[in-house]
Amino acid sequence: MINQIDIDSSHASVIHKMKITCDIRGKIALVTGANRGIGSAIVDAFLHHGATKVYASVRNLDSAIPLTERYGDMVEPVQLNLAEPETITALADRTSDVQVVVNNAAVFKASTPLDSDAIDSLELAMKINVCGLIRMAQAFAPILKSNGGGAFVQLNSIASLKCASNFATHSASKAATYSLTQALRELLGQQGTAVLSVHPGLIATDMSDTAGLSGNAEPSSVVAEGIIAALKSGDFHLFPDTMAKRIGLAYQSFSRSVIETDIAEYKAEKNSEDIAK
Ligand SMILES: NC(=O)c1ccc[n+]([C@@H]2O[C@H](COP(=O)([O-])OP(=O)(O)OC[C@H]3O[C@@H](n4cnc5c(N)ncnc54)[C@H](OP(=O)(O)O)[C@@H]3O)[C@@H](O)[C@H]2O)c1
Repeated sequence: MINQIDIDSSHASVIHKMKITCDIRGKIALVTGANRGIGSAIVDAFLHHGATKVYASVRNLDSAIPLTERYGDMVEPVQLNLAEPETITALADRTSDVQVVVNNAAVFKASTPLDSDAIDSLELAMKINVCGLIRMAQAFAPILKSNGGGAFVQLNSIASLKCASNFATHSASKAATYSLTQALRELLGQQGTAVLSVHPGLIATDMSDTAGLSGNAEPSSVVAEGIIAALKSGDFHLFPDTMAKRIGLAYQSFSRSVIETDIAEYKAEKNSEDIAK
């Protein structure tokens, strides 16, 4: 774990970027929604890249059997249902040695704002995706701190940045989780925890199938390998697949000068302009 302060003085105002890096080798990790899709690929990649153990957090413990058959006691299945807050605190009690937490599990229910079930869809997405993130962060921030910092990885989406009208309620929840991830970057950064915001585009899983978007979807391993590399280089954003990379490229400049910049920089800039007048 290295703390780097990187000052880019070529910019009009000096931008301070704190990079906290994390190598998965030798770490104990926890992945939610570990039984299938992107979560299962993250378990595979973490173990292949030298994680010593992965807590596979699943709703139904039987769904983790393929993972324990593959990896033996390097994978420990643990129960979690994001709809039941008491399972989050119980999970944290049981996994107090964890150093890298991946909040991957989420629901997808597609509604436009004009659909009759729009409020139901939004409430479900807010409960699982958004409140789930807040509860996971609250439960695991102190654990990560006491284990030396580590990393908190949040599965956001390109839908966090670009709303597709067919999936508007889902996009709204992913915009909310991205907003919260920015806050976590600042808050957890103060305790030396790396925070990574992952924005997949189109990945071949049950979720993209349900969305009717499986054509051209890329394998989950692209996300998993991307997470390992992004943690190693201390990046805040990861746009892993082809579609996501395109959006990430267009977003890069805004991200660098606004999202990854401390708002205090703007205040400081304004103050010096006022003094100069
Ligand atoms: N696939 C894509 O193209 C794509 C694109 C952008 C972002 N993402 C994001 O990537 C993450 C993983 O997506 P995926 O495509 O792998 O999804 P997926 O195949 O649908 O898997 C979803 C996972 O979340 C778990 N889950 C659902 N509700 C839960 C709850 N209440 N409590 C605990 N776990 C719950 C599921 O468990 P069960 O098996 O028990 O249902 C499953 O393990 C999500 O955050 C998603 O929004 C995916």
